[in-house]
Amino acid sequence: MEISVVQGDISKAEADVVVVNLFEGVTSPGGATGAVDRALDGAISKLIELGDIRGKAGERTTIHTFGKIPAPRVLVAGLGKADDFDVHAVRNLSAEVARACRRPAVNTVATVVHGAGIGGLDPDACAQAVAEGALLGAYQFLRYKTEADDDDKAAIGQLTIVEHDASKVEGMAAAANRGRVMAEATNLARDLANEPANNLNPTDLAGRAADVASAPNLEIEVMEEEEMAAKGMGSLLSVARGSIQPAKLVRISYKGRGGEGYDLALVGKGITFDTGGISIKPAQGMEAMKADMTGAASVIAAMQAVAALAPKADILAIAPCTENMPGGNATRPGDVVSAMNGKTIEILNTDAEGRLVLADGLCYARELGARHLVDVATLTGAVSVALGDQCYGLMTNNDALAKRFEAAAEAAGERSWRLPMFKEYGEQLKSNVSVVKNIGGRQAGSITAAKFLEHFVDEKPWVHLDIAGVDMASKDKGWITKGASGQVVRALVNLAVGFADE
Ligand code: BES
Ligand code: ZN
Ligand code: ZN
Repeated sequence: MEISVVQGDISKAEADVVVVNLFEGVTSPGGATGAVDRALDGAISKLIELGDIRGKAGERTTIHTFGKIPAPRVLVAGLGKADDFDVHAVRNLSAEVARACRRPAVNTVATVVHGAGIGGLDPDACAQAVAEGALLGAYQFLRYKTEADDDDKAAIGQLTIVEHDASKVEGMAAAANRGRVMAEATNLARDLANEPANNLNPTDLAGRAADVASAPNLEIEVMEEEEMAAKGMGSLLSVARGSIQPAKLVRISYKGRGGEGYDLALVGKGITFDTGGISIKPAQGMEAMKADMTGAASVIAAMQAVAALAPKADILAIAPCTENMPGGNATRPGDVVSAMNGKTIEILNTDAEGRLVLADGLCYARELGARHLVDVATLTGAVSVALGDQCYGLMTNNDALAKRFEAAAEAAGERSWRLPMFKEYGEQLKSNVSVVKNIGGRQAGSITAAKFLEHFVDEKPWVHLDIAGVDMASKDKGWITKGASGQVVRALVNLAVGFADE
């Protein structure tokens, strides 16, 4: 999809569809909608009068123009009540419009920036949201649909944002470009998470990371098992043993400040398929475990956006990647391994493998000089029992970093929710034979998983994001699309870019 911002009069735009909008309760439309209404001899006001257009959120009305304006169709998008309207609504609206325009007859779309005029929102923020929403909402995973239907193949080719005020165009164009960068990174994470595990093993995932790292300001290292062993990463390697696929530890570095170490490390769980290992999962629904590398996909994708936005900050991504398989050499329940920081771990359930790979990933990030740590993982089924798919779990040892992340997520239109980290929860992880065991029993499963990770962060400011409840969506809704949701990627980018201000 090409996206451009131009100065002009939307009623004169040459496009297959012109998109304007209406707040609920408005009887005579003003601004761009008013201009189109006049050009159509009052057709929009007439439809409002008839009660066919009410401006409700989610309402979309197509009007055919029969030569009265250059565009053959006008889409009037309802904005809902003005009080409830914000930049997140703009992003979601743009996504819904992009999907509604997925028809062979519609290739070029001209749109106003929803929210910027009568809505009173910042025009740049709205332009970013329109671009971001369109690209996010139009996303589909069609790689294996050899007989996709016409509508599926008919994504918008050209989206033109039309602004009447010439002085605003330059700023809006830059903002729309930021929206593109954010959305493309998110769609990359979606592509990786949607990819079936037979075509995305740890080696494939590391290869995709290398593609991202071909940007001139990124640097990549893919660590092999031999070096992991030399570094004492027995925890990560214990998960890889059951698979014939070798584990890969991906590091991507961005040095926009050029200082010592890194302002921030993003550490993502990269289990390309989670069978559970010897503690094998039930058959029902196991296919969803192809997405157990969403954390890794998210941090790799975030680096693509960081590189494009080029903040003056030093950012690191670490993705420990492996399959969790029950092969003949697999780790057995009761085995004891040790992580890079020397802590011994009794593995009582091989299905609690995410925390095992993150343990070494977090240690490695610290060794490389990370001053703040954020890990992202589809870590526990318990988090979706606790929070459902309305938000993801956030656990932390540091209030200040948690608040920074929450602001970054809010700006992305996402919600995280904090779970407590009282020290008593840590007692559930006491082992008879080692420093810690890898499961904490039935109660507070997401928190004990975080308590396990805390053993490997060594008091560094740290935020843990458990995205197991939100990584996959069952249906399209606003900017979120069916399958891999793409949540967390833009939040991570916002957080990383924010380190430029220090
Ligand atoms: N990858 C799973 C968590 C998961 C479950 C992600 C559902 C997405 C959807 C993780 O590795 C796992 O199996 N966790 C166990 C931990 C338990 C054994 C302590 C779980 O949640 O059951
Ligand atoms: Zn598991
Ligand atoms: Zn897992």
